[in-house]
Amino acid sequence: KKVVLAYSGGLDTSVILKWLEVTYGCEVVTFTADLGQGAELDEARKKAEMLGIKDIYIEDLREEFVRDYVYPMMRANALYEGLYLLGTSIARPLIAKRQIEIARETGADAVCHGATGKGNDQVRFELSYYALEPDIKVIAPWREWDLNSRTKLIEFAERHQIPVAKDKRGEAPFSVDANLLHTSSEGKALEDPAVAAEEFVYSRTQSPEMAPDEAQIIDIGFERGDATSLDGEALSPAALLTALNELGRIHGIGRLDLVENRFVGMKSRGIYETPGGTILLAAHRGIEQITLDRGAAHLKDELMPRYAELIYNGLWFTPEREMLQAAIDHSQRHVEGHVTLKLYKGGVHIIGRSSPKSLYSLEHVTFEEDAVYDQRDAEGFIKLNALRLRLLARRGG
Ligand code: ARG
Ligand code: SIN
Repeated sequence: KKVVLAYSGGLDTSVILKWLEVTYGCEVVTFTADLGQGAELDEARKKAEMLGIKDIYIEDLREEFVRDYVYPMMRANALYEGLYLLGTSIARPLIAKRQIEIARETGADAVCHGATGKGNDQVRFELSYYALEPDIKVIAPWREWDLNSRTKLIEFAERHQIPVAKDKRGEAPFSVDANLLHTSSEGKALEDPAVAAEEFVYSRTQSPEMAPDEAQIIDIGFERGDATSLDGEALSPAALLTALNELGRIHGIGRLDLVENRFVGMKSRGIYETPGGTILLAAHRGIEQITLDRGAAHLKDELMPRYAELIYNGLWFTPEREMLQAAIDHSQRHVEGHVTLKLYKGGVHIIGRSSPKSLYSLEHVTFEEDAVYDQRDAEGFIKLNALRLRLLARRGG
């Protein structure tokens, strides 16, 4: 009877809006989140009004997105399959959570998203919906309708007085998803993984070749594993990531061309730009280098791929993700101090780190004479470690 639609204001979700009304005869509530995708939210409002929607939710979720989703993930140094910073994956649980809350506020019994039946996003949205509201009805038009060609979609739009911009009549060359953390482009023109993506695919970074010849040195401050300042200025999570995005854009940082394994089983090729996130990850590793104990650091690195896979597969609202998060957050108690980084032509390089909580001991590591470390202790340490190797060698392997 009433459905909350994740609405971007674009052609596809506008068609979904009308399709919901004619197919289900239900009232549609639209929800448009500002996650820093850079789209005009006023446009989404105008379009929803024009399509006759009464309940229009438009919300700036940038601060919550970075504080409660991106930052916790950064504490883990999460990378999927070694490379992907999970920019789309981490945004889905937040959108789903607000959709469910809005469903409760408006007395809606269903939620709807515009992800296809072939990808990860449908899984992420729907696992989150069900985790938060077990009896919610989920509508996924791309899995139900017969508007699977561009021609049919446009026809439907015209039949229902949905304006179709001239440049939207043809097939888009690829599919884009953007937020404060990243922009992803995949599909269509990018589908052949043997063929290099053209420069125009990249929308938020300069190419490293065009980046300044002059390196830029920056300082990032951390508290409890979270970045809190840039060049000495305290910034909120969203403000800090926004500032790092601009630095990354200028220096061509955070481009990635990746073939990854989707949860549904197929491989897909994506072009990602994660300018600020790439700087943040490097800086976080830098501060952990001096503040984390070896045992904690190595265990964290073992857990990381599991944690990243949970996020990729849409399992944010699960006991196993929360368990790992608790362990990761606990490890960050002393992760504070400053990291100095050099940004230069696509590269981000740690060149210094300091912390009041540093475990780094100059006194111990010095090549000069010292009073705290007895080099003779190393002899027994090595001998006992060698014992089994000598027994093996004596037997002959
Ligand atoms: N392959 C990436 C992921 O699964 C990006 C997905 C992009 N989604 C989109 N609707 N364009 O996280
Ligand atoms: C989609 O299928 O809607 C986008 C790609 C994905 O979710 O993996």
